[in-house]
This record gives sequence, C-alpha cells and structure tokens, in this order.
Amino acid sequence: MAYSFHSLAFFCSSILIFKLISLHQSALAWSCGPDVRPTQGFVSLPFNRSYYHIQKPYDVPEDQRYCFIDGVHKCWVYSTDKPHTTTSQTLPRTEIAIQGYGYSSGVWEFEAYAYVPNGTSGVCIMQVFGATAPHASTLMLRVYNGSLTYYRAPVLVPNIYDKWFKINVVHDVDAAKVRVFIDGCLKIEADGRGGTSHAFKCGVYAQMNDSTYMESRWKDIKVLRKR
Ligand SMILES: *[C@@H]1O[C@H](CO)[C@@H](O)[C@H](O)[C@H]1NC(C)=O
Ligand SMILES: *[C@@H]1O[C@H](CO)[C@@H](O)[C@H](O)[C@H]1NC(C)=O
Ligand SMILES: *[C@@H]1O[C@H](CO)[C@@H](O)[C@H](O)[C@H]1NC(C)=O
Ligand SMILES: *[C@@H]1O[C@H](CO)[C@@H](O)[C@H](O)[C@H]1NC(C)=O
Repeated sequence: MAYSFHSLAFFCSSILIFKLISLHQSALAWSCGPDVRPTQGFVSLPFNRSYYHIQKPYDVPEDQRYCFIDGVHKCWVYSTDKPHTTTSQTLPRTEIAIQGYGYSSGVWEFEAYAYVPNGTSGVCIMQVFGATAPHASTLMLRVYNGSLTYYRAPVLVPNIYDKWFKINVVHDVDAAKVRVFIDGCLKIEADGRGGTSHAFKCGVYAQMNDSTYMESRWKDIKVLRKR
C-alpha cells in the first residue's frame, strides 16, 4: 500500500513538474521574440527639452551633474550630495523629469537605451512617478551590484554594467498594470500602486546602500501613448 501511494505521489508530482515546465515555456515564448513589439499600437510623441527638466542637488549648477552630448544624456550624483530642493528629505538625485507628459489615465510608454557604469549601485535609474501614499512611485527600476531590479527585488536582469540595454516600460493606468521589457523581452508585469498623477523619470536617484558615485546614461528617449 505504502509503495503504491508513493508511486502515485511521484506520478502526480511528475505531472505537476511537467505542467510547470510547459507553463514556464509558454510564458517565455510569449514574453520574448519577434512577436513581442512593446511599441506596437503606440504613437511616439514629440520630445525635446521643453518636455523635461533636470532635478539635481539644489546647491550645484546643472552642468556639474548633467550633460547632453552627441545625443547622450549623462546624469551623475554623489551619495554626499544635497537633495533636489532645500525642503526635500529625500536622498540625492539627478533625474530627467518628463513633466511635459504628466498623465492620469490611458496607456503610456517610456522607451530608451540606458547605460550604467560599473560601480554604480543602490540607485533608482528609472521610475514611474506617482502612487497612493505612502508610496511615491508606481515603478522603480534600480541597480544593485550590477543587477537591474524591480524595487529591491526581484532581479530582472543580472550583469548590466558597462553596456547599453533597451528599456520599455508600459503603464496601463486604467488596468493598474505596469510591464517592463528589457531588450525586447518582458521581464515583469507588476500591479499599479494607485495615484492620479504620473510621469516618467530617468537618471540616478540614491536609495539605501548607495555607492559614493552614481551615474547612468540615456539615449533615444521616447514617450509614447496608445492610440
Ligand atoms: C519642442 O517640440 C514642440 C512640439 O514639436 C515644438 O512646438 C517646440 O518648439 C519644441 N521646442 C524646442 C525647444 O525645440
Ligand atoms: C567592476 O569593477 C570591479 C572593481 O574594479 C571589478 O572587480 C569587476 O570585475 C568589475 N565588473 C565588471 C562587470 O566589469
Ligand atoms: C552588494 O555587494 C556587497 C559587497 O559584495 C554586499 O555586501 C551587498 O550585500 C550586496 N548588496 C546587494 C543588494 O546584493
Ligand atoms: C544597507 O543599509 C542598511 C540601512 O542603512 C544597513 O542596515 C545595511 O547593513 C546595509 N547593507 C549593506 C550591504 O551595506
């Protein structure tokens, strides 16, 4: 009796494992490949300096923490820097804040190529601003020790230092979902966190366990909206 029960249990767990494997594979097939076009059905909106401003430590000139050369935005900040306003209690940041496309409904997308140099850690490099308190953001993409993470966890992509990678973030406000694609592969679909006023930001915003120097670079930044 004991033996046959054991066999049955083994048989069932084999089926379960098989099912898990096939689920996993179909999820992978769906999340990555030529059929996955995160910008399909979206319109790219005009983007220039009038749509964004730079948030940087309040006591230093902008050109000491940000530059835009040959189409590449470079943002950097030090862990000892001041916050972006005299009254803010937040950790230091140099962020490209795309205030020109604030939104409260619809489906919006951020696309860009990002580069994070080795050594930059404990930092948010991209966020969907706006959420219901106590949260301030709907999404944070962070870097810890060379891994790109959703907030503190999970890891979305390991070993991202010293190379360009493509980020697509799709925020469906009404469905309260945010999807993150890295190099055209879906890495996470996370729940919204409320809020009635959102905007995209990218750069470097120190988090817990930040490195003394933080830097990220950006090119081909696009904001898109679903038709
Ligand atoms: C930015 O783009 C908008 C819309 O295309 C245009 O009206 C405006 O003149 C541009 N501003 C600058 C500073 O290029
Ligand atoms: C980053 O720099 C450290 C210290 O110089 C080195 O040990 C490490 O191998 C580097 N990592 C990468 C991914 O280049
Ligand atoms: C990053 O690496 C340091 C040094 O190896 C380690 O102490 C720390 O726990 C790591 N942090 C994370 C978030 O993995
Ligand atoms: C990260 O920061 C927290 C809070 O300051 C601290 O308790 C922890 O030891 C730090 N971890 C590392 C790996 O430095």
